[in-house]
Amino acid sequence: MTNPRYFLIGAGVAAAIAAAAIVLPAAGVRAEGDFFAPVAEPTTLKECSACHMAYPAGLLPARSWRAVMGGLNDHFGENASLDAKMTATITDYLVANAADAKTNRSKVTRGLDAAVTPLRISDLPWWHREHDGEVGPKAFANPKVGSRANCGACHAGAAKGYFEDD
Ligand code: HEC
Ligand code: HEC
Repeated sequence: MTNPRYFLIGAGVAAAIAAAAIVLPAAGVRAEGDFFAPVAEPTTLKECSACHMAYPAGLLPARSWRAVMGGLNDHFGENASLDAKMTATITDYLVANAADAKTNRSKVTRGLDAAVTPLRISDLPWWHREHDGEVGPKAFANPKVGSRANCGACHAGAAKGYFEDD
């Protein structure tokens, strides 16, 4: 399948070189939807990367982050509870930068029923559009991957916010 992403990256780089400008390539990639700003809030980065990558806030809508943060005592079978202050700091950051935040307008929530609050990125219709048919179920079961939640196993740039096809 042809992918305009490469054109956008190329155009962004060319523009940056031509204008000796700052961060134009990232802007080009962001428009294509495979760049998600990595977690930039220190408490979130520290506390939410102990067991898996700190998922970028832009990968879930605000209501999902509220639900995840409201249930840390039973977090996918783990107790990930934090004190009230840290919980509030992290929740505020994730909600302010969520997929459906006013500044974001990403395609992540496209096709998601407004009455549904997914706890997993990998439960979003968008995530399935990007992976189903492209990545077989066996790839996720591969011991080197282990789970759909292990984004970094397949996306080498995930920690830097890049989820392109590596
Ligand atoms: C004690 C370990 C632990 C900590 C700390 C932790 N998590 Fe998790 N988290 C998990 C486990 C286990 C899963 C399920 C992973 C799987 O299905 O492979 C998970 C899954 C998730 C998912 C769903 C990913 C998906 O799409 O399937 C989100 C979102 C998430 N965590 C957010 C957070 C946030 C936000 C924090 C910080 C407040 C956090 N986690 C801290 C253990 C942890
Ligand atoms: C088993 C490997 C694997 C895992 C695990 C995985 N992905 Fe992917 N993902 C892929 C592949 C392969 C593609 C490219 C499909 C294609 O070419 O269209 C892709 C595509 C994407 C895209 C679209 C990229 C683009 O170029 O538009 C995004 C965004 C994405 N994945 C995010 C994630 C996130 C977030 C997670 C973790 C919650 C994740 N992926 C987990 C393999 C994986």
